[in-house]
Amino acid sequence: MPATSPTSVPELAEGLRSVGYLPGESTALVSFLATKLGKPVLVEGPAGVGKTELAKALARFLDRRLVRLQCYEGLDEAKALYEWNYRKQLLRIQTESEDAGWQDVQGDIFGEEFLLQRPLMTAIASEDPVVLLIDEIDKTDQEFEAMLLELLSDFQISIPELGLIAARTQPVVLLTSNNTRELTEALKRRCLYLWLDYPDLEHELQIVRLHSPELEETMARKLVEVVHMVRELDLKKPPSIAESIDWARALLLLGAQDIDEGTFRSTMSVIVKHRTDLDIVAERVGVKLRPAEAVAGDARPAA
Ligand SMILES: Nc1ncnc2c1ncn2[C@@H]1O[C@H](COP(=O)(O)OP(=O)(O)O)[C@@H](O)[C@H]1O
Ligand SMILES: [Mg+2]
Repeated sequence: MPATSPTSVPELAEGLRSVGYLPGESTALVSFLATKLGKPVLVEGPAGVGKTELAKALARFLDRRLVRLQCYEGLDEAKALYEWNYRKQLLRIQTESEDAGWQDVQGDIFGEEFLLQRPLMTAIASEDPVVLLIDEIDKTDQEFEAMLLELLSDFQISIPELGLIAARTQPVVLLTSNNTRELTEALKRRCLYLWLDYPDLEHELQIVRLHSPELEETMARKLVEVVHMVRELDLKKPPSIAESIDWARALLLLGAQDIDEGTFRSTMSVIVKHRTDLDIVAERVGVKLRPAEAVAGDARPAA
């Protein structure tokens, strides 16, 4: 079956929606260009705004396998590209006859059979086109970035013992970054750029309703309004879409009928996860959720 290939931005947007991802305008546009131009996309933005999910959704819609490289500090080529399977090589050497020369042994143990493919190599070597997700690239160092650059411009890997392995198919490549460090200009130059931010109210409402369709519309709207209010405070970690979705699920489970001050205070740790943030939020937002009479009551001088 030929993989899906969208022919317009609206078609791609509709495709993403059909697999459970509601793209904003620029998300649909940049994703479309990525499938057409064969350029990697660098997706930057705060945590929990749908960067990783975009890659997953694209793979679902394009009907391609998702190959994911999760980056972390100290990630090296052996874990990202390939490494030799030393154990297997050793076993092979032990079974070689005593009089086998080095040439024979070398020829035997440096074949594809002894290669452990890591995600980047898997994506390059794949017979069918894949979506390659290089997740949280900002966690690696610049050296690793430089190695990636080569790979992203040529889509090939050179293995000294084996020669050049060139991509047989064009992968759709997404790199994500939580913006914890500035990426190099060289990397940015090679990529299309997508900045994903917290969505506007209506967009987030749609996303929450998609994930929790059982939550009543008015509740969902209030939830999103409160989350937006919380985001406006100066917090260490503002709540993301992921937290909105979790909160909707929690409220459903608890059978909450309204988001009043009590409900808010008892569940706000689902969306706010720092001690100091909790204090700020309780004070600034909790109060706003008090029913009007109570607020009026507060204003009366103590008898
Ligand atoms: N546009 C969207 N449509 C549907 N779900 C979304 C959207 N954006 C974010 N989500 C949901 O929000 C959660 C967090 O997204 P994720 O991709 O893990 O964030 P990030 O990688 O940016 O930290 C996921 O459950 C994801 O399904
Ligand atoms: Mg992510």
